[in-house]
Amino acid sequence: MAKPRLQFVCQNCGAAHTRWAGKCDACGAWNTLVEEGTAGGIGSGPAALRKARPGRPVALTTLSGEIEDAPRIVTGIGELDRATGGGFVRGSALLVGGDPGIGKSTLLTQAAAALAGAGHRVVYVSGEEAVAQIRLRAQRLGLAEAAVELAAETNVEDILATIAEGRRPDLVILDSIQTLWTDLADSAPGTVTQVRAAAQAMIRYAKSTGAAVVLVGHVTKEGQIAGPRVVEHMVDGVLYFEGEGGHHHRILRTVKNRFGPTDEIGVFEMGDRGLREVANPSELFLGERSAAAPGAAVFAGMEGTRPVLVEIQALVAASSLGTPRRAVVGWDSARLAMILAVLEAHCGVRFGTHDVYLNVAGGYRISEPAADLAVAAALVSSLTGLALPADCVYFGEISLSGAIRPVAHAAQRLKEAEKLGFAQAVMPSGGEEAGGTAAAQLFQPAALADLVVRIAGPAAD
Ligand code: TYD
Ligand code: MG
Repeated sequence: MAKPRLQFVCQNCGAAHTRWAGKCDACGAWNTLVEEGTAGGIGSGPAALRKARPGRPVALTTLSGEIEDAPRIVTGIGELDRATGGGFVRGSALLVGGDPGIGKSTLLTQAAAALAGAGHRVVYVSGEEAVAQIRLRAQRLGLAEAAVELAAETNVEDILATIAEGRRPDLVILDSIQTLWTDLADSAPGTVTQVRAAAQAMIRYAKSTGAAVVLVGHVTKEGQIAGPRVVEHMVDGVLYFEGEGGHHHRILRTVKNRFGPTDEIGVFEMGDRGLREVANPSELFLGERSAAAPGAAVFAGMEGTRPVLVEIQALVAASSLGTPRRAVVGWDSARLAMILAVLEAHCGVRFGTHDVYLNVAGGYRISEPAADLAVAAALVSSLTGLALPADCVYFGEISLSGAIRPVAHAAQRLKEAEKLGFAQAVMPSGGEEAGGTAAAQLFQPAALADLVVRIAGPAAD
């Protein structure tokens, strides 16, 4: 047998190097290489101990044939079921990522209790907290009586042996993947090799028994699931639980889903007694708007199948710096630079001597290009000091030529706006028909310059 060699594994991307270096060649991250033994690595665990066996042919099949719907376990927590695409899928593994303290354990405790109440066998294994701490949380949530089976354990083999006893569990929750370790790998818990091996063992368990497995993963400051980015490829679904420190609401975002749509969100509010579902997120993100303030524009956005209205706030102030500041919260800063450039080049609006701050209200994060128009409106409004109409929503993509391009789901966006009492909309012309929204008063500029004139008047520059 080969002598165990040392290797250096990047904790960010999982690439293995033969010698240590300050920077990972594969992903460019600094100070991420950690020494790990190869003997227990993936692919050299049990397989390496066995003798090579001759391959066995498997039956090939066709693309057409019987398809069964993925068998699901519905929690009854509407926002969670929406994010998972209709409930946990039996025989699949799901990764729930998020910052420490965001409420992952709380959410999963509530889900576990709901399922246990419906007669499912649910096992909750915590590697982070002692049983007493978990009980305390359950008490706070008013769920202390739920028939959830609880263990504080970190060794994968012990966990597998424990859940193999008795009836097959319907749901196994492992909190968190970073604390798990398996005998098959000999690096420290939390390293890529351990996390990958532990996840693989649990995924194999899910596939072979038909139980749904939920893995909890912490996210680093850089916004990636610490170490186990590698796990994202292995699991069937990835959900991110996110929220801003000072805000009470939390968003469960689907990043990957082999059994459903990936652009859904579930919205919750963290209170004294756990997470409460928020069925109408628009009301939450619109917050307490002060109607007459310049620099605020309401964006009619879409999250998956659901329209969400969010307020976008801009502050444009004279700068005392040689290079003015541009700061963005909740949106893409490259996209802001682009909108500023288009406004300067095609509309004669100058920001060169101004600091620009952009904020998406309520700690919400927007990734849709459809927000361009709302951002532009907020910027122009703040620069000119002229408030936008309080009952108007904005959506549309801006191209580099200054043209306004159609976006999908116009009718749905308008319907949501109407429902919340908005009577006007600024949106692209063309694209899909905005049918059935006769009540809303539409302004459909072909170019951004038309919108600037509408906000600032003809003497804009
Ligand atoms: P937790 O679920 O432990 O977070 P995670 O597992 O993601 O690390 O939640 C921790 C935070 O939530 C903690 O700061 C306290 C707060 N919290 C509430 O505000 N209300 C509650 O009912 C509970 C259980 C927690
Ligand atoms: Mg936790």
